[in-house]
Amino acid sequence: MTVSEGVPSEAARRHHLLSQEIDDANYRYYVLDAPTLSDADYDRRMRELKALEEEHPELVTPGSPTQKVGAPISTDFANVEHLERMQSLDNAMNDDELTSWDDRVVREAGKIAAYLCEPKIDGLAIALVYEDGRFVRAVTRGDGRTGEDVTYNVRTIASVPERLAGEGWPELLEVRGEIFLTVEGFEQVNAVQAEAGREPFANPRNAAAGSLRQKDPRVTAQRPLDMLLHGFGAWRGGRQPDSQAGAYELMREWGLPVSDRYEIVEDMAGVRAYIERTGENRHATAYEIDGVVVKVDQFPLQRRLGSTSRAPRWAIAWKFPPEEVNTRLLDIKVGIGRTGRVTPYGVMEPVTVAGSTVTYATLHNASEVERKGVLIGDTVVLRKAGDVIPEIVAPVTGLRDGSERRFEMPAECPECGTELAYEKEGDADIRCPNAQFCPAQLRERLYFVAGRKVLDIEALGYVAATALTQPLEPSDPPVRNEGDLFHLTVDRLLPIKTVVREQRTGLPRIDPKTGEEKVVTFFANKEGEPKKTVEILFGELEKAKRQPLWRVLTALSIRHVGPVAAQDLAREMRSMDAIRNATEEELAAVDGIGPTIARSIRNWFEVDWHREIVRKWAEAGVRMEDEGSAAPQPLKGVTVVITGTMEEFSRDSATEAVQDRGGKVTGSVSKKTGFVVVGESPGSKYDKAVKLGVPVLDEAGFRVLLAEGPDAARNVTLSVEE
Ligand code: IVH
Repeated sequence: MTVSEGVPSEAARRHHLLSQEIDDANYRYYVLDAPTLSDADYDRRMRELKALEEEHPELVTPGSPTQKVGAPISTDFANVEHLERMQSLDNAMNDDELTSWDDRVVREAGKIAAYLCEPKIDGLAIALVYEDGRFVRAVTRGDGRTGEDVTYNVRTIASVPERLAGEGWPELLEVRGEIFLTVEGFEQVNAVQAEAGREPFANPRNAAAGSLRQKDPRVTAQRPLDMLLHGFGAWRGGRQPDSQAGAYELMREWGLPVSDRYEIVEDMAGVRAYIERTGENRHATAYEIDGVVVKVDQFPLQRRLGSTSRAPRWAIAWKFPPEEVNTRLLDIKVGIGRTGRVTPYGVMEPVTVAGSTVTYATLHNASEVERKGVLIGDTVVLRKAGDVIPEIVAPVTGLRDGSERRFEMPAECPECGTELAYEKEGDADIRCPNAQFCPAQLRERLYFVAGRKVLDIEALGYVAATALTQPLEPSDPPVRNEGDLFHLTVDRLLPIKTVVREQRTGLPRIDPKTGEEKVVTFFANKEGEPKKTVEILFGELEKAKRQPLWRVLTALSIRHVGPVAAQDLAREMRSMDAIRNATEEELAAVDGIGPTIARSIRNWFEVDWHREIVRKWAEAGVRMEDEGSAAPQPLKGVTVVITGTMEEFSRDSATEAVQDRGGKVTGSVSKKTGFVVVGESPGSKYDKAVKLGVPVLDEAGFRVLLAEGPDAARNVTLSVEE
């Protein structure tokens, strides 16, 4: 943490903590598709962060979550720079905020005669590029500047035209919108998931994200994804419309899908009426909406109002309050997380909220149960805020009949029987201390190992992780800890029967019809032969062994060592041996590694069964050092920024190539940047490099940099035409 001069250290600390929490929440939401923070909690943190930055402008850095849109980029699809930056929207949560948005608009652009109102679709932002009327590319929002190329998957969506209809379209057109599943489509997808023994998606948005990110477009094609457009980015040539509504009409003529629910109103009274009507009929649309977007309709006025780095000033999103329903709290059970943390969950009488059936709701921790004053048997208010695990808000005390009882935190872990304990005094969370044998912790860790940002073993989903760590028979699971993962054999897998557990709570899935727990034979078919998954799993395990060191390090679930710290460690230490043998001081001397992380790493390696995991992985051939670790590090101390797409390198492989040689890859260009590598269609980073006089390399130059080092590369920089 860097403490800016003049900022009280308490404010700087709070800023640091909030930024970390928001970055983490973004990562879980956008990359893992497994959010853990409710929308309301996320918004609260973001607001506090903005307020802090307003009070102490020195805290604003380009890396602050307030300056970024969306997510870090996931690694499966090629990264593509957007033709124009994809922004987000500012939110208005109440009428005062809506009024102050409008006050500013009127102050800067004069009285507005036309506001365009439309539903805010709860989907995934997408940019489609048409060249000469032909669909050429679809890119997810990513971090707003760069997104993932999902062209092949988007091509399978029926409402995406391959060619534009009519005439008069520009040579280059980039349209933006949302990809989503209708509520009906979502139920259809989940029915298929359940049939195949796979984890159901929590809600339509996650299902759409999962469908769009399929590596095999044939799978995407089977999902009834839909799309509606709500704007455009690049527009070169042709006649430009002069208003948002005009653009929608043109898009419609060209066969592009736009909402038929937008309306033009002439003043804020009209805006308010639209918001009210839409809120009342929130579920009348086939897809989920989470608010209303209000836009200044006329383009000249939009241009006059301009944008902040994050969002346009000419638009605002009115967010609906999270949905609340009443239902009964039948019981309170506890789930055990990856680090043994115990979370109480309410077992609810099944109820539909915001398009999905809820059976469990989080209560966070014991003191939260106390604070909310809920009793087992209570009728409670349940809130479903967007995508996260539903939350119990409060009991309806007026409906009590005296049969309700208090929740007692169990003394023992429900999965392994170990006595639960607080790690240290003052902790909010009680934990299961049995990290070595507790099946719940093991299951969560194994599932984590398989994650996209870790070893990326797609066939090892939550049901598979459950099956491997907690079979009903035979009694000894095939994976006793992570060390066994790369030593599996097919015959160990075939007989396994397992209960199906909910991914987000770890609690057994109850069939709403029978009230029973669901049990499946996961790896074998009816004839007792291996299912296709088994072959895929073994193939992916082989691939996982070749993952770079930082991913292997992340996979060890060392407290505080997430992907960022692991990359810092791998870059400097280069091998697992070096990390294992380093002293706490040596670890703390690594750029990006503080004393807490250093201590945590040392403590981890002190434990016998932890070292055994590393030994067994190494024995199985898991990569334990990054290439060239013995070799000199020609790029040590050199910072490289990579922009645009290259032919032979993906963003990840380029980054790893630089890191393998001791260099560092960062996202933004500054005077300290050693080189900017530009691929096809580079964006603003290229311009910035030119402005700052940072050497620019093309793909060939990049190869020279990798092969011969910085001096040779300086001779092959691109000559820049002013
Ligand atoms: S207009 C410059 N209109 O909500 C951004 N966005 O929370 C202009 N969204 O990033 C966006 N429905 O992906 C707009 N009718 C709508 C929308 C909409 C959903 C998404 C969009 C945006 C996000 C912000």
